Amino acid sequence: MSQTRRAVRKSPIRAAITGVFGYVPPDLLTNDALAAMVDTSDEWITERTGIKERHILKGKGLGTSHMGAHAVRGLLSKTATAPGDVELLICATTTPDFVFPSTANLICDMCGIRAIGSFDVQAACSGFVYALTIASQFIETGKYRKIVVVGADKMSAIIDYTDRATCVLFGDGAGAVLLEPSKKFGIVDTIIRSDGAGMPHLHQKAGGSRMPPTAETVAKRLHYVHQEGAAVYKFAVARMAEVANELMKRNHLTSDTIDWLVPHQANRRIIEATAERMKLPLERVMITIQKYGNTTAATIPLCLWEYENKLKAGDRLVLAAFGGGFTWGGVYLTWAYNSPRE
Ligand code: ACO
Repeated sequence: MSQTRRAVRKSPIRAAITGVFGYVPPDLLTNDALAAMVDTSDEWITERTGIKERHILKGKGLGTSHMGAHAVRGLLSKTATAPGDVELLICATTTPDFVFPSTANLICDMCGIRAIGSFDVQAACSGFVYALTIASQFIETGKYRKIVVVGADKMSAIIDYTDRATCVLFGDGAGAVLLEPSKKFGIVDTIIRSDGAGMPHLHQKAGGSRMPPTAETVAKRLHYVHQEGAAVYKFAVARMAEVANELMKRNHLTSDTIDWLVPHQANRRIIEATAERMKLPLERVMITIQKYGNTTAATIPLCLWEYENKLKAGDRLVLAAFGGGFTWGGVYLTWAYNSPRE
């Protein structure tokens, strides 16, 4: 039976987001600064993508875990959660500090979270939606009561700053949420999908087991994001709207009953096209792309962090994402608290 027709399983316990925190590094890379590096302009970037600036992590030896740990420390402090109370930590990332150990392991160590399960999820820009989906299962079954889900990426580590087609799009950042059980609010429904045939359009050619790093792969600049922008654009618009509409249909939502669309931030035009296909006005769409660019797994938690003060308990949120792979997915949830957190 297709997932479209499958009835939504109603769990008596839902996984509710009970706190969110974000981190972006202090260094800014503006459109004007990029125009001094490659043949581009503020006008072109703004018109085609909506991006004005992005944050870049600088500093020797600092990787994705540095930003993830900042976000998790802030989250634990804000929600008055002791490191010892966290039972599982999942980190969605495409730019792990190392091939192994996982970035989730490193974040735990940096935050004083000891001897719990922790692992990374790799689903490119859909990573946070994937990680949230996985984490919610552990809450719904009653296995765990406090899970931290992180979305973090240091995209500047895999971007070719001589390639104008990709270097204008991405930024660095991290966001983290706390999931706890609730009988009232939380994650109602999730969708995760993938299609490996999309690989040629968006991937990193070298550095994995198929093409391990050599002097030649470095000389040929094969350790950077390779993207066929137009093909990805078409896919993104179709899949984001499809997943959002599917969640609306099977949960009996209409454009009037959704309070917020929380879309992956890859391109403002993709966000607008998705909202239009859902018949949602842009006032109810979270948009941060102008200041952060595409931070891959971090875009959705950074949106929640940025808009937290506008959210009220009971608000209906639809999260929608797509990314390399291809991967795509969505989450329908009800927000669990008023801000400041009560
Ligand atoms: N500045 C100036 N000109 C540029 C730039 C730039 N930064 N980048 C490309 N161009 C040029 C191209 O060379 C091309 O020139 P040509 O016509 O002489 O060949 C022209 O602009 C048009 O290029 P297109 O690629 O057709 O431009 P498009 O309108 O499609 O916009 C963009 C490009 C912004 C990349 C768009 O295709 C897009 O947003 N694609 C989706 C990106 C995306 O969502 N990626 C997902 C990443 S998610 C993950 O998992 C990592």
